Amino acid sequence: MSARDFLKKTEKQRMKELFELLRIPSVSAKSEHKKDCAACARWLADHLKRIGFKARIYPTGGHPVVYAEYLVDPRLPTALYYGHYDVQPPEPLELWKTGPFDPVVRSGYIYARGATDDKGQTLAQVKGVEAVIKATGTLPINVKFMIEGEEEVASAHLPGWMKKNKKLLKADICIVSDTGQFNKKTPAVTYGLRGIASSEVFVYGPDHDVHSGTFGGTIANPVNTLCWMVGQLHDKNGRVAIPGFYKRTKPVSKWERTQFRKLPFDEAAFKKSLGVSRLQGEKGYSTLERAWCRPTLDVNGIKGGYQGEGAKTIIPSMASCKITMRLVPDMEPGEALNLLEKYLKKIAPKTVRVKVDKHGGASGVVVPTEGPWLAAAARAIKAGFGKDPVFMKEGGSIPVVADFKKILGLDTLLIGFGQADDNVHSPNERFRVMDFERGCRTAAALPDELAKAGR
Ligand code: BES
Ligand code: ZN
Repeated sequence: MSARDFLKKTEKQRMKELFELLRIPSVSAKSEHKKDCAACARWLADHLKRIGFKARIYPTGGHPVVYAEYLVDPRLPTALYYGHYDVQPPEPLELWKTGPFDPVVRSGYIYARGATDDKGQTLAQVKGVEAVIKATGTLPINVKFMIEGEEEVASAHLPGWMKKNKKLLKADICIVSDTGQFNKKTPAVTYGLRGIASSEVFVYGPDHDVHSGTFGGTIANPVNTLCWMVGQLHDKNGRVAIPGFYKRTKPVSKWERTQFRKLPFDEAAFKKSLGVSRLQGEKGYSTLERAWCRPTLDVNGIKGGYQGEGAKTIIPSMASCKITMRLVPDMEPGEALNLLEKYLKKIAPKTVRVKVDKHGGASGVVVPTEGPWLAAAARAIKAGFGKDPVFMKEGGSIPVVADFKKILGLDTLLIGFGQADDNVHSPNERFRVMDFERGCRTAAALPDELAKAGR
């Protein structure tokens, strides 16, 4: 029996297992889900053990890391697979057609939080490897799995754990399935990710809410002021107005411009999928260039004052917002956050007090677009999808990829099975059943291809 046949035979069972995993509400951002995160780690470790791996759960200062290995022969190449079992918060709940943690299949899609990001994709890699073991009794390479529970909150504890466990993680190449295909007809290898820097900005006015009639016109309103400040973050050409923001940004190379133009990007379909009639962004760049090669800044949420039923006439005492910046390689989160803080404090009127909390971040990366490992990934995708992949970048971030290079000196193959319309981080997240299947097939073809590449 081939690995492919094994997958075919076990389709129902695999779906059942994915559902089990999706039922665990492993929301890393919320402390009330700490136990669920631990349960998810246990599920994965048990599962990997049943497949024949030596697996262990490592506590960290946050949610645990699952590490598992199947070592065949030290002379064979070693692949370090990464995935994350944590998910984004499911809110707003009222917009889900079915419960975020009650997985169902509707019209060829598995609906649940984490279906694509990243439980479905991680399990596809696990099940692909299992199929090879079941079909051949062994693996043609050494395989290590490192599955963490804090990716969606910027992987704060993972780099420290990796530094302590460098020996354990010794490998030749890293494999990550936490990205997407280019579109429904075009699989992809991703060669670049943006980094991220997160912050929260507070604007303080009077030390308590005050009557807007009595005091309106006499003091600064923190909500008005914060909104004005946010308005100063971009210029009229859509460029971020913070001095020095672009100083480390390299121009889009000729090679990339040509590559991107060749991609079958359908701008009309893109707009339609988002429900917008026009696109907006930095002048002088194409849509894909803006999303993949340019740093950006966005307010993720803003609050202040009264939002309940009816009217309340106050000048609120404070306002706040969360801001993230997407970074290009060489732009470090700390530096970007310092620039943001300096600029906001400079433009703030003297009538308010401004505080900027600088949270974590992650660096952007570009991985090689040539070489034997990449060719191996392309061949595995061809086997799984029946089609050659294109090369693309992603605007999103996966913190560990820069750390693989910095801490372990390793390159990463980003082999994504998702789709842009999988509603990742949003209500009704989904994963196409067909993409799960193709993902498993690609994963089953990968070990052989990596073995060839590493010879
Ligand atoms: N799977 C995503 C990264 C991603 C997003 C890949 C979009 C392809 C397309 C990952 O789980 C993620 O969401 N990362 C966070 C990281 C952050 C919280 C540090 C992100 O990009 O917001
Ligand atoms: Zn995510």
